[in-house]
Amino acid sequence: MSPLDPRASKMRGWLYIAWVFSFFMLAGLFAARRDRTTVSHSKLRSNWFSVSPKWLPFSLQGSDPNVIHEHPIPKLMAEAEQKFKALLAKQSKTFPQAVAEYRRRYGRNPPRGFDDWWEFATQNDVKLIDEFDAIFEDLAPFWSLSGKEFRDRAHEVRFYLTLVVILTQTRMQVGQLPSIDLVRIQDGEAIDFKVQKKFKDQEKGHRSLGFRRLVEKYQHKLPNMDFPINAKAEGRVLVPWEYQQYSNLTYQDSVDDFSPDWQGTGSVWDAYRRTCAPNTQARRLFSSYRNPNAEKPRSLLGTSNTPGESFSFVEAVDVDLDFCQYPWAHFTQGHFFSDWRTMSKLYPVLSPARANGFADIRIPSHYYHGQNSRYTYGWDPVNLEPKEIDDMEVPWDEKSDVIFWRGATTGGGSTPQGFSPNYQRHRFVRMTHDNATANYTIIHESPLNPGTFISTTVPARDLNQEIMDVAFVSAVGSYPGGETALRKAHRFADSVPLGEHWSYKYLIDLDGMGYSGRFMAFMASDSAVIKSTVYKEYFSDWVQPWLHYIPLSSSYSEIYNIYAYFSGPTDSTLRVANTTESLTADINTIRSNGDRQLRQIARAGKQWKRTMGRTVDMEAYIYRLCLEYARLWADDRDAWSFTL
Ligand SMILES: *[C@@H]1O[C@H](CO)[C@@H](O)[C@H](O)[C@H]1NC(C)=O
Ligand SMILES: *[C@@H]1O[C@H](CO)[C@@H](O)[C@H](O)[C@H]1NC(C)=O
Ligand SMILES: *[C@@H]1O[C@H](CO)[C@@H](O)[C@H](O)[C@H]1NC(C)=O
Ligand SMILES: *[C@@H]1O[C@H](CO)[C@@H](O)[C@H](O)[C@H]1NC(C)=O
Repeated sequence: MSPLDPRASKMRGWLYIAWVFSFFMLAGLFAARRDRTTVSHSKLRSNWFSVSPKWLPFSLQGSDPNVIHEHPIPKLMAEAEQKFKALLAKQSKTFPQAVAEYRRRYGRNPPRGFDDWWEFATQNDVKLIDEFDAIFEDLAPFWSLSGKEFRDRAHEVRFYLTLVVILTQTRMQVGQLPSIDLVRIQDGEAIDFKVQKKFKDQEKGHRSLGFRRLVEKYQHKLPNMDFPINAKAEGRVLVPWEYQQYSNLTYQDSVDDFSPDWQGTGSVWDAYRRTCAPNTQARRLFSSYRNPNAEKPRSLLGTSNTPGESFSFVEAVDVDLDFCQYPWAHFTQGHFFSDWRTMSKLYPVLSPARANGFADIRIPSHYYHGQNSRYTYGWDPVNLEPKEIDDMEVPWDEKSDVIFWRGATTGGGSTPQGFSPNYQRHRFVRMTHDNATANYTIIHESPLNPGTFISTTVPARDLNQEIMDVAFVSAVGSYPGGETALRKAHRFADSVPLGEHWSYKYLIDLDGMGYSGRFMAFMASDSAVIKSTVYKEYFSDWVQPWLHYIPLSSSYSEIYNIYAYFSGPTDSTLRVANTTESLTADINTIRSNGDRQLRQIARAGKQWKRTMGRTVDMEAYIYRLCLEYARLWADDRDAWSFTL
């Protein structure tokens, strides 16, 4: 991009807006913090948006700036399909090819047992048989440790665990574990390493049970080793930048410092900032990143009036969002306010998801392969095998053209308190509220002049009534002003069974305390999934945004234009555009054309779940992870490598 390139100036514009926003956000939030009970909601309602470089500029053509001739969505969909087809086509067909591909990608030999793994993967028809960069990425930092150090660290986590048990018993702090379980492979069998628990552990070890379930088929081929399993949804390992650079530095925290929650001695964000390089924004004092011009363009607070924000589509979800460069963005993410203490030492901890900057090792969430009425599509309580079609599934044409979401107010803890209004779910529920005051620029195909797109500014209130069915079903955690204030500012409704979701064409999947455990169920359904997340999961390289699901930025603000593309302009949009009844036929054409494409995404998502999101794909992933882990565990890693 040259400096004269209009895209470059657009990017600078975005960065500038980001600066301005950071100022207002911080101002609003610090006000909130000072006075928790009388916090003003108008201050907290800042409309945060992403400055991820993936924003796609759209081109305005012709003399009328309100008319565009090319919608970005069909292009994104076509590119996604092409990209995924190419990925499928280039996978290794033979074992020697797979070994060569491994060497090409990672510059070393595959781990011992790779031949057995290949056998397992091909027999089970694993499609993306070369795509395991996620494992390489997650384990890369551990190569700087010797086998002994690696084993010691896995055991140290266990030591933490037993130590805290002792402390817990003596201090009578019932139920406050750091929530790391240990699965041990011993003589070809995966067992839960038992710690004497004389207190109630809230997590009940579901995640370690899930891990054991995934290794069952090949555990007899694995050597003895231990896996520390995170019992929480949140990431746990944040290694300070200096320790990442110099692995010979002696860690300053000692085991004695460890307590399961923060107890007023820090926060996830404090720990996260230390993972950032010294020259990044996150390491600077707050005052140094306030823009002195920030006071001026107050009008920018209503940025929903500018088409740029609500008409910019992301190529992928925000998993690479760099909180070190955009520290203000951390206010929008609940996991930075988690009550659970993170660990600053590079421990091997297996977690269901990993946000940028964390050092957890990804494994498939237990929600994805267990049988659970709340997380499993086609749940069958009798046969305990999910059914192909859920009993509550609805034919496409009978699904309503509505964006549906139900959930609890989970989304982060209370360390520090007072920030929950900006957690992911709270922001979305307020944005889609019937009483929302924003206006959105909706760009939709013109019924008068097909092939061109017109722009109209529509009140959020009207759009929300027409297309959003979004509500909390239960209140947990703290909120400034208490539950009364929470209920006043957010819509609440009765909870629904999972199957109720299948009555809607659009399902939105939002992060909560961590990743969203419902993703696989949503993908399995006949509805289309819109997903916003900052987490990478084991499948992140396997699923293609705009082909299998619709990616949404962390600001959510383009969601109205996503809807307008697939479902056409709503009645209120047409009213603003002065379009008359006589044009109904053309509007129906626009709507059915978009609907066909939406259905295509729903179908592709379902097909993906059936062919690449299966439990056996998760088993293949963990199998390969176990082989890599076993090599790290060994003293002589060359001996634990595979050569043809
Ligand atoms: C760590 O290693 C670096 C070079 O790799 C060296 O310069 C430094 O002195 C070492 N630090 C310690 C504490 O040993
Ligand atoms: C939305 O538009 C209406 C009508 O033009 C205007 O009165 C209102 O102030 C706008 N709201 C915002 C938040 O800009
Ligand atoms: C929404 O607006 C209506 C009408 O102005 C009002 O009765 C209702 O209390 C408002 N709801 C919330 C949650 O503010
Ligand atoms: C719709 O009609 C009103 C009143 O005639 C006019 O002010 C407005 O500009 C028109 N809107 C569009 C998008 O043409």
